[in-house]
Amino acid sequence: MPNLILIEKKLKQFNKKISVDGDKSISIRWVLFASLASGLSKAQNLLISEDVLAAINAVRKFGIRVTLEGKFCKIYGNGVDGFKIKDNLILDAENSGTLGRLILGFLVNTPRPIKLMGDKSLSKRDFKRISDPLSKFGATLQLKNDKNLPLTIQGSKNLKPIKYLEKRGSAQCKSAVIFAGLRTKGTTIIKAKKSRNHTELMCRYLCLPISVKNKKNYDEIKVSKFKKIKPFNYKIPSDISSSAFFIALTVLSKNSKLLIKSVNINPSRIGLIHILKKMGSSIIFKNKKMYKGEKIADIEVKGGKALNSINCPSKLNSGAIDEFLVIFLVAAKARGISYFKDLSELNQKESPRLKWGAKILDMMGIKNIVTNNSIKIYGNPKFENKKNIVIKNYLKDHRVFMTSIVAALTFGGKWTIHDKDSIKTSFPNFLKIINDLKK
Ligand code: S3P
Repeated sequence: MPNLILIEKKLKQFNKKISVDGDKSISIRWVLFASLASGLSKAQNLLISEDVLAAINAVRKFGIRVTLEGKFCKIYGNGVDGFKIKDNLILDAENSGTLGRLILGFLVNTPRPIKLMGDKSLSKRDFKRISDPLSKFGATLQLKNDKNLPLTIQGSKNLKPIKYLEKRGSAQCKSAVIFAGLRTKGTTIIKAKKSRNHTELMCRYLCLPISVKNKKNYDEIKVSKFKKIKPFNYKIPSDISSSAFFIALTVLSKNSKLLIKSVNINPSRIGLIHILKKMGSSIIFKNKKMYKGEKIADIEVKGGKALNSINCPSKLNSGAIDEFLVIFLVAAKARGISYFKDLSELNQKESPRLKWGAKILDMMGIKNIVTNNSIKIYGNPKFENKKNIVIKNYLKDHRVFMTSIVAALTFGGKWTIHDKDSIKTSFPNFLKIINDLKK
């Protein structure tokens, strides 16, 4: 089977109920915390994707027993000091920045050196943003070119708490420092630009020593050394970042309607919803509930509404950081010129996504002006693509693949979209759900 998809027809009007796969950020965090719990933890609806399997393989290398039956996972934790570290241990984070960065936080106190590697895409990403704060705790990290994977971490038994200013709005950096703070005597103090807060919520649910003060533009987090994690069961909600492709698809499809069941709508993750609603989309949350500190709801989207351009406030960026590629597609169909700024972090993802966003628009002939950290998109509500487009996704970025599918199914034209396998990292059921919408 070739690793590509051909699309020559737009999607017809649909009215469906769907469920998307489990949340990736929460799945990886559950695996990491459960591996340190004292006893058996169970997860339902775990995301079974390459990124989460890489997390499971990583904790297995520490001697932790993990069993999987479909999306049901059991982890037999050995306690906070229960990792067995063999000589010359190598961990492979594959494509996952979240796994690669978070796990280092838990390794600041392991005196045996551990090597961390990743795939081609992850090996191009910045790990200095993690090694800088973790070195201040007292761990030693050696990186390729001072910045990249592979790296070696050697922890210390004499850790010192740190004061850390997180300015990027990166939940991965913030979480790695929280994990290291949980390993360290004394109080680690973090002042962090707002970003997704699943780590803090899980710590609070587990009664770990953390306090969070929410200030207007940042959070002040204090963490100290944990003694024990109780085993914990978790039913993973659906991922808003996976839902985003279907939300955009519906917004761009005339007279279509979609209900997405039981999605995590944590306020730090719903930048996409705020942005698309400001642009005139009809999106509502139904059956809202709380689950272990996280907000969950069904999302109802009605398509084909007239869309306005947006001058997107930067404060919405971090809550929509994984969704901008599809937001740019919506802007292409809006009336007027949209502007998105302070987005340099987008070029730090699995591939340089700000560049990719502009490139996909260029290929269709949609006028845009892109810089290192901003993009202006000249929208046209009547736009129809007439071109033949080939997407060769050289770093195999899953979100570039799925965004291209949404563009092909809503803007028309003839598309050849390579690197279908990339969806295995985050959303293996994506194409199956697309096919269900066609029935
Ligand atoms: C994630 C944080 C974000 C996001 C990534 C998942 C997490 O990355 O892009 O997909 O689970 O903490 P940054 O922390 O680099 O912004």
